[in-house]
Amino acid sequence: MAIHRKSKHEIGIMKQAGNIVALVHAAMRDAVKEGVSTLELNDLAYKIIKDNKADPTFLGYHGYPFSICASVNEQVVHGFSSKDVILKNGDIISIDVGATYKGFVGDSAWTYPVGDISEEKKMLLKATEEALFSGLEHMRHNDKLENVAGNIEDVAKKYNLGIVRQYGGHGVGREMHEDPFVFNYRTNNPLILQKGMVIAIEPMLNLGCDDVEVLDDGWTVVTKDKKASAHFEHTVHVTEDGPEIMTKLL
Ligand code: MF3
Ligand code: CO
Repeated sequence: MAIHRKSKHEIGIMKQAGNIVALVHAAMRDAVKEGVSTLELNDLAYKIIKDNKADPTFLGYHGYPFSICASVNEQVVHGFSSKDVILKNGDIISIDVGATYKGFVGDSAWTYPVGDISEEKKMLLKATEEALFSGLEHMRHNDKLENVAGNIEDVAKKYNLGIVRQYGGHGVGREMHEDPFVFNYRTNNPLILQKGMVIAIEPMLNLGCDDVEVLDDGWTVVTKDKKASAHFEHTVHVTEDGPEIMTKLL
């Protein structure tokens, strides 16, 4: 397993890519409302990425047909945008987006509430965000990837949430998916984090059980029990001083 450690120069470009992803999320936060279609959100994201001289990383990735993954309620990840999927009060929507700038990728996901959501959905969003930040706290030189995974698992357990097992975080660089893969629970992974590594941390937690399945479109991942799922992701740089979030506004 070759893990590419990024140079200072590469980190500088990756911050630009991450800034563009953060610009998209800032726009999504405002655009997500009752009555908006997920295709409108996709098209807005596409425009922002292109206006910033970047390319939507997901579009065409293994044939994926959209710039964002728009996953509503029981959809976990890789949901298709559609003019027929209109957000309703009480929904939650996970928006995952990647931008490639000067050959480097930024990747980040966030789950947004639509209007007034139930108390249990509020808890799911708060807990999954907490799992992300608790996990990435260990993204420091000479710390262990297992501690990232362990913190995510512990937060999920604290809130009694299901943990999606089949998907997880990953190295990011010139490719969206580089080594290492990051489970969102303990696996006895011996990997020691080293400065210059850039890894997307992305817990996906469920109100119900762990199990998920893929719909007939070949992409959309849903929970088997149809209970809601949330997804929070940042691309994070390992440094001696701790985690540096790349997918934030510059
Ligand atoms: N953040 C998701 C992942 O790392 C993005 C999936 S992109 C897609 O898997 F193009 F495959 F949809
Ligand atoms: Co990712």
